[in-house]
Amino acid sequence: MKLRYSVAIVFFVSGQLLLLLLHYLPTTNAQLLPIVHDHSNDMQIYIIDVEKHQQHDLLSDEDLESWHASFLPNSTLDSGAPRLLYSYRHVLSGFSARLTPGELESIKSKPGFVGAQRSQRHHVETTYTPGYLGLTRNNGWGATMMGQGIIIGVIDTGVKPTHPSFDDSTIPSAPPKSKWKGNCTYKGFACNKKIIGAKAFQSGSNPSPLDTEGHGTHVASTAAGSFVRNANVLGMARGVASGTAPMAHLSIYKVCFPKVGCNSPDIYAAIEQAIKDGVDVINMSISGGRNATFYQDAVSRGSMGAIQKNIIPVAAAGNDGADPITLSHSAPWVLTVGASTTDRRIMSIVVLGDGRTFVGESAYQPTTWNSSALFPLEYPGSNGNVNSRCCVPSEMAKLNLKGKIVICEPGIVENAGKGEAVYKAGAKGMIVLGYSRQGYTTFSYADVLPTSYVNFKARIAIMDYYLTNTTNATAAIRFNGTRFGYMPSPAVPYFSSRGPSRMNGGLIKPDVLAPGVNILAAWPKGVGPNPSPLATHTFNFDSGTSMAAPHVSGIAALVRKKHRGWTPSEIISAIITTANDSWTARSPDDIIIDEISNDTAGIFTTGAGMVSPVKALDPGLVFKLTVDNYIGYLCGLGYTDAEVFKTVGQKKNCSAVVHLNSTDLNYPSIAVNLTRTVTSQKVRRTVRNVGNAREEYIPKIVQPAGVDIFLSPDRLKFTRVDQEISYEMRFDMSGSYPSQGSDMIRRGKIVWDSGNHVVTTPIALTFT
Ligand SMILES: *[C@@H]1O[C@H](CO)[C@@H](O)[C@H](O)[C@H]1NC(C)=O
Ligand SMILES: *[C@@H]1O[C@H](CO)[C@@H](O)[C@H](O)[C@H]1NC(C)=O
Ligand SMILES: *[C@@H]1O[C@H](CO)[C@@H](O)[C@H](O)[C@H]1NC(C)=O
Ligand SMILES: *[C@@H]1O[C@H](CO)[C@@H](O)[C@H](O)[C@H]1NC(C)=O
Ligand SMILES: *[C@@H]1O[C@H](CO)[C@@H](O)[C@H](O)[C@H]1NC(C)=O
Ligand SMILES: *[C@@H]1O[C@H](CO)[C@@H](O)[C@H](O)[C@H]1NC(C)=O
Ligand SMILES: *[C@@H]1O[C@H](CO)[C@@H](O)[C@H](O)[C@H]1NC(C)=O
Ligand SMILES: *[C@@H]1O[C@H](CO)[C@@H](O)[C@H](O)[C@H]1NC(C)=O
Ligand SMILES: *[C@@H]1O[C@H](CO)[C@@H](O)[C@H](O)[C@H]1NC(C)=O
Ligand SMILES: *[C@@H]1O[C@H](CO)[C@@H](O)[C@H](O)[C@H]1NC(C)=O
Ligand SMILES: *[C@@H]1O[C@H](CO)[C@@H](O)[C@H](O)[C@H]1NC(C)=O
Ligand SMILES: *[C@@H]1O[C@H](CO)[C@@H](O)[C@H](O)[C@H]1NC(C)=O
Repeated sequence: MKLRYSVAIVFFVSGQLLLLLLHYLPTTNAQLLPIVHDHSNDMQIYIIDVEKHQQHDLLSDEDLESWHASFLPNSTLDSGAPRLLYSYRHVLSGFSARLTPGELESIKSKPGFVGAQRSQRHHVETTYTPGYLGLTRNNGWGATMMGQGIIIGVIDTGVKPTHPSFDDSTIPSAPPKSKWKGNCTYKGFACNKKIIGAKAFQSGSNPSPLDTEGHGTHVASTAAGSFVRNANVLGMARGVASGTAPMAHLSIYKVCFPKVGCNSPDIYAAIEQAIKDGVDVINMSISGGRNATFYQDAVSRGSMGAIQKNIIPVAAAGNDGADPITLSHSAPWVLTVGASTTDRRIMSIVVLGDGRTFVGESAYQPTTWNSSALFPLEYPGSNGNVNSRCCVPSEMAKLNLKGKIVICEPGIVENAGKGEAVYKAGAKGMIVLGYSRQGYTTFSYADVLPTSYVNFKARIAIMDYYLTNTTNATAAIRFNGTRFGYMPSPAVPYFSSRGPSRMNGGLIKPDVLAPGVNILAAWPKGVGPNPSPLATHTFNFDSGTSMAAPHVSGIAALVRKKHRGWTPSEIISAIITTANDSWTARSPDDIIIDEISNDTAGIFTTGAGMVSPVKALDPGLVFKLTVDNYIGYLCGLGYTDAEVFKTVGQKKNCSAVVHLNSTDLNYPSIAVNLTRTVTSQKVRRTVRNVGNAREEYIPKIVQPAGVDIFLSPDRLKFTRVDQEISYEMRFDMSGSYPSQGSDMIRRGKIVWDSGNHVVTTPIALTFT
């Protein structure tokens, strides 16, 4: 059994994700056992969609609640618990409630019923990174006052408000009541001018918003943490820490709890509250199903409610890479963010007894360690037991590892747990081997003993050495501290989820990449050895697309600050069209590398590439989309009227709406299909000039292999600000249909350059 799950676990990179997954296992497991009928389990939480009340906009919250309650058999369960969990107004039209399947059946026959869905469980998916992204006081931050006055809502595991990253001494007061309607009323949890709102949602109750896990604190400080000098993890990566929008306010919505995960009724309630409160950007680092339709995915659906209130939704693509079609939250109204590395490594080098070296990483690098001392190597997994291979505490407790460097594999328990286990058994050090499906990605965890996390290539050599020299195999661990300039970077780590999505008609997702590997940010509790000779315990490294998304939330806050009038779709457009898909200045052909292969990454891995916040503030042209466009697109995807209502909250008759296919949606990127018979496709786009009044854009076309692109007109000549110009692109197959076995997805781009602004449209060309 355990073996099966160890496979799943290694895909999770953050300790938090891992823990949550472990709590998941019993449930998953139970489904494999004979089904024993248990009546107490009949009661389920459902999200019920109902038509909008005729006076929807006039109803008070109490009236709305009574209208929703009128669908229920009665108001309380035998236990006295209320049936109704939440009434939703903005995020969707409906409510969540506890019901048996039988009771649900009788609700289905009531007038006004639209649909029902079982509650779903989700999990949660920077010192250096603002600078790595090019943000400095003179550049980007200056023009936007670092996001001052903007409110970022973070939907996650809560926050530790007393952490220095949330110091408010330089932050102005919360925006006036006309804009900011949120509050912070949980007893014993003190908000300030940085954290201006905090509320937790758990099955209808409001417990403490305090973060005890770390994920939410990390995410909040990555988006909008204040400046903290001398931030470091056990002495590593020392520098000034801050979020990407350090002057912005934060409003915290806790929906993820230890052992429980994050449940969809609570996520909807949090988004509903964020909309009511008046946040500008919401950050959702919450997992989703890659097979979920938009109305089944709490993040996509909640985001549709948000954009209708002019809130910019940013979501993590997921940590399910490196296979294709693993991405979540693929709706065109959500900015979907994948993870990238930076050029920083916290180097910990393995030196084998024969002198060969392998560069790995680890954050715990005590100065008292002797980097040239060789110790005997030990591989507990020689017995073939998966728990031994993964250095599970119960197995390590049986061994004497005194004075050894122990080789462990990833999985089953998080690294800190392996480290503690081998340390207790007397080990001097630990080597954690990467799997081939983790490619070249390595992690700088805050371990409890000297450690090196090495990639899969090093794994092969180290194991080969160990297995042929078992009795006399030795190794040293040589610390090399915090190093910058690692190349190639940025690159995409194996775990970043990849498109295409089966649910969105082929739109390019992720949209962009942002740093998400070994990100230093605030942490609510101690890390590494305890007691430790090293400094602060208040920051930690964490990895995941969860760490990438809040960088982009901060950037969205900066763009919103500079351009108050722009819609969410225009802000998303600015961030996409200014991203950079190259990792060198040498040549635009040096496309960002995929760490799974150390080779050029695909378009559905990088999207438009690495975010460029300074350029996003001044994009030149923007692509705009309206809710009506999204409705035409949903009809084009084949959604029924009821499904459109569930997704958008508006009653529409698809037969009376112009259907759009994904290619024709005025999205900032383009995905085109060619087949054996359809060898040419025309695509239209319309752009709005947000640069100088008089600007002329000339295109540079990077054609996908096997395709010719023709533009009409082939110049975009603007004479005034806000002017809109439409143009057409024709994609013609230039040769014969590709032979079997060749790559069927090709990347290209159209780069509109005016001399002042560069507007890039990424292209995915698929031979289907
Ligand atoms: C509510 O209805 C359920 C059955 O649907 C019943 O078991 C319960 O006793 C009812 N509660 C009240 C307070 O009537
Ligand atoms: C806080 O907000 C909630 C709902 O958002 C509201 O019901 C409550 O009255 C507010 N409390 C205070 C003290 O303003
Ligand atoms: C918010 O933060 C989480 C990390 O918990 C991240 O996964 C998510 O993508 C962020 N969402 C937005 C909208 O920035
Ligand atoms: C998604 O659907 C595909 C095709 O139906 C299936 O192979 C895959 O296992 C599903 N993935 C998940 C995570 O449910
Ligand atoms: C470190 O280990 C090497 C090799 O065992 C040894 O020669 C050296 O004296 C040690 N250095 C210290 C400071 O203990
Ligand atoms: C075994 O060790 C010897 C010397 O220590 C070394 O030359 C040899 O390469 C090792 N074998 C392997 C397969 O690494
Ligand atoms: C180490 O052990 C291997 C095999 O057990 C042997 O071939 C090799 O000569 C030994 N090397 C040294 C340096 O003792
Ligand atoms: C260790 O750091 C030094 C100093 O920066 C650098 O010259 C050296 O290349 C690093 N070692 C490795 C293996 O990268
Ligand atoms: C393009 O093909 C993909 C499958 O490869 C499909 O999911 C998508 O809907 C197609 N797009 C259009 C616009 O037909
Ligand atoms: C894209 O990013 C790379 C790596 O950071 C950088 O060297 C290059 O100059 C950037 N290209 C542009 C056009 O900004
Ligand atoms: C990846 O490839 C580049 C050359 O493109 C090379 O310089 C680099 O060393 C390779 N990285 C690894 C980890 O093998
Ligand atoms: C998308 O729709 C347009 C017109 O509505 C059509 O010309 C084009 O062929 C369609 N594309 C695909 C891939 O179906």
